[in-house]
Amino acid sequence: MAAITMRGVTKRYPDGTEAVKAVDLDIADGEFVILVGPSGCGKSTLLRMIVGLEDISDGEMRIGDELVNDRAPKDRDLAMVFQNYALYPHLSVRENIAFPLRIAKVPDAEITKRVEEAAKVLELTENLDRKPANLSGGQRQRVAMGRAIVRDPKAFLFDEPLSNLDAKLRVQMRTEIARIQRKYGTTTVYVTHDQTEAMTLGDRVAVLRKGVVQQVDSPRNLYNDPANLFVAGFIGSPSMNLLPGVLRGSTLELPFGSVELPAARVPQGGGAERQVIAGIRPEHFEDASIVGDDDRGHGSTFRSRVEVIEWMGSELYAYLPYSVGGGSVGAKLDELAADLDLEQTSGDDSQIVARFDAASRVSEGGDAEVWVDVRRVHLFDPDTGETLTPRETAGSRDHAPGAVQD
Ligand SMILES: Nc1ncnc2c1ncn2[C@@H]1O[C@H](COP(=O)(O)OP(=O)(O)O)[C@@H](O)[C@H]1O
Ligand SMILES: [Mg+2]
Repeated sequence: MAAITMRGVTKRYPDGTEAVKAVDLDIADGEFVILVGPSGCGKSTLLRMIVGLEDISDGEMRIGDELVNDRAPKDRDLAMVFQNYALYPHLSVRENIAFPLRIAKVPDAEITKRVEEAAKVLELTENLDRKPANLSGGQRQRVAMGRAIVRDPKAFLFDEPLSNLDAKLRVQMRTEIARIQRKYGTTTVYVTHDQTEAMTLGDRVAVLRKGVVQQVDSPRNLYNDPANLFVAGFIGSPSMNLLPGVLRGSTLELPFGSVELPAARVPQGGGAERQVIAGIRPEHFEDASIVGDDDRGHGSTFRSRVEVIEWMGSELYAYLPYSVGGGSVGAKLDELAADLDLEQTSGDDSQIVARFDAASRVSEGGDAEVWVDVRRVHLFDPDTGETLTPRETAGSRDHAPGAVQD
């Protein structure tokens, strides 16, 4: 096991594409770190540079204390698990798992011992003599992991290992991977484009956009204290609502009315009137008619038409239309929406997604009193995209300076 340290790690492909830009990342020994971001943001490239399958154009990659920039993959002592498992169809499960040990000329008795131990943890003991073709997708995935485990590598590296599995199995394997990582305590770097996977698996999550690390933090901190608009929009489902606003002192004017922000939410050095982008998560709205008196005082209430209702059983999503009115803030939101694959358009009309308690009786096409929790409103600078909101949780945001600018 070992720590992985990156300093200014950059990848320029021969055609000039800069896929990874000056990444600084410290992964502690035994830590489970996720690299997450939309397709094409450079996750696989970064992982392949750790493993040695891609040359490093600039910067330093260290595994433990050792600079590995010029080390061949086989000398880095890392185990990579691919999306397509890469199992040998003509070999039994036992021989597939044993494969890297045979290559390394480990004695037979030792191979048997290590393979059987791994099979036990992976619940593959009954299947050791079967061929991959006779296994389910989840079992094949576990064989691929078994092959990584028996090598007792310095780190496990996963590149979207679950994306070929159906939704139910994906959830099951997610728990499995977390369990196995905890049992072995092996340093793990895991790539996914799925923010739910990122949030549930990692000790820490690094969010990438266009090859640049935006924020590295615990799932909770990413959610509560996003460093910029991109992280705010990417983490959370349904996404945070991003609305154009004008801030005067502690008064925030939003498309649906003005709200008074509590002191803890007001940006430092406020003063003059300024344009902002306000971020409010769906769950920080509520049907005002079911908000208790205690909470009511912590928020603002406004009236809105309810265009669509999606009833989810345990909750419902109400779609509240509003008009944005273009301008530079609108353009910024459009650009962000394109990057995030969101449907939010800001050119003309848009909608807020609000999550209401299942007890709500609002009706589609009707009007509703909507409550918004002003303690949870985020503000962002419309030019840089950086947050303006004082941090909720202790500690400083760990992200590359200037990360938001393209
Ligand atoms: N061999 C290559 N040559 C040139 N560009 C590449 C190559 N491989 C990947 N890229 C580009 O680098 C960027 C990052 O790719 P990749 O690391 O695969 O992203 P992700 O895994 O996040 O989807 C993309 O723009 C992709 O098109
Ligand atoms: Mg990829």
